[in-house]
Amino acid sequence: MTQPIFLVGPMGAGKSTIGKLLAAQLELPFADSDKVLEDRTGADIPWIFDVEGEAGFRRRESEVLRDLCGGTPQVVATGGGIVLLPENRKLLKAHGFVVYLRAGLEQLVERTSKNSNRPLLQVADPKAKLREILQQREAFYSEVADLVCDTDDCTPKQASQLVADRLAANAVG
Ligand code: S3P
Repeated sequence: MTQPIFLVGPMGAGKSTIGKLLAAQLELPFADSDKVLEDRTGADIPWIFDVEGEAGFRRRESEVLRDLCGGTPQVVATGGGIVLLPENRKLLKAHGFVVYLRAGLEQLVERTSKNSNRPLLQVADPKAKLREILQQREAFYSEVADLVCDTDDCTPKQASQLVADRLAANAVG
């Protein structure tokens, strides 16, 4: 394999957890676009949203994605909103094998309720916000995906195995 494997999907889909397991299984490096962005700026994501707004965050996220498209074979967990910008969708499709980790609303609510580091969910009704986000982005996730994996009934380990099996079946990895 010569290109990165990008994991896309909404907040709480398990991109980082599954991505780390998958990278270990495939013996590839692992990168997390949010983490790369935070390391680069020396600021955390809530702070960037506060100071630069979502638009500033998206601009930085796009720069990070461009760099991660450099061709190194690795597993990359992306931020849930990476698919919003058309140029990002183009980059993902052109430079990587894209796996959409899909999960139902209830699972997303449950998995994101455990921490408060996601600015978009610091609202009175995070479930309604997640529902709106899914409606807005579902078509974008599907558009960029080479592979769709449902993670609802899986532990992270099972999900990682499922993705690895599907990649092998697609002769990737
Ligand atoms: C976002 C998802 C987050 C992070 C930021 C915005 C989004 O990443 O990039 O808070 O717009 O869905 P995770 O999907 O890893 O939570």
